[in-house]
Amino acid sequence: MNEVLKAILERRSVRKFTGEPIAREEMETLLQAASYAPSGMGKQSWQFTAVTDGAKIAALCEAMGKAMGKEGYDMYRPAALILASNDRENGNGLADCACALQNIFLAAHSLGLGSVWINQLKETSDEPGVRAVLNGFGVPAEHIVWGVASLGHPAETPAAKPRREGVIHWAD
Ligand SMILES: Cc1cc2nc3c(=O)[nH]c(=O)nc-3n(C[C@H](O)[C@H](O)[C@H](O)COP(=O)(O)O)c2cc1C
Repeated sequence: MNEVLKAILERRSVRKFTGEPIAREEMETLLQAASYAPSGMGKQSWQFTAVTDGAKIAALCEAMGKAMGKEGYDMYRPAALILASNDRENGNGLADCACALQNIFLAAHSLGLGSVWINQLKETSDEPGVRAVLNGFGVPAEHIVWGVASLGHPAETPAAKPRREGVIHWAD
């Protein structure tokens, strides 16, 4: 099996991280992988915002936790985040970011890193306390953060969930 197919089949969401930082070069590789994803009409109206400073990650978690009424919210205490955001006027914004996030997840797996999609900024990007933090990170005001890659060195190796039966249908 080739390496791409192997990564697709092997990748799992990782929610426990060791705390070891991710090398700058590896973050750059993940960001490049994101930027090579397909996008509707090739618009690439997205931004991928890398956050590696633990205090900045904690500030975002705190603001999101306040917005959601979830004290101690921590995005699984990652070493780094990549926020995938897109122009709120782009109807393909979420789909484009989802393609880019999957590129990040597969690239992360290929480097021995763990990753998981964090969905909660989709609904909280425009909460004033959260937006203030996003402004500080340089996320454009007209962007919604459609998904976040929470990243780190894996401290667990989850097994694949059984595949749902009947989802493949041949109409030929
Ligand atoms: C659109 C989407 C949103 C998700 N949101 C979250 C989330 O907020 N928190 C989380 O822990 N996992 C989240 N996940 C990860 C899924 O729970 C995970 O992919 C699923 O359970 C299958 O496990 P696997 O990734 O190991 O194959 C999300 C995945 C997708 C595709």
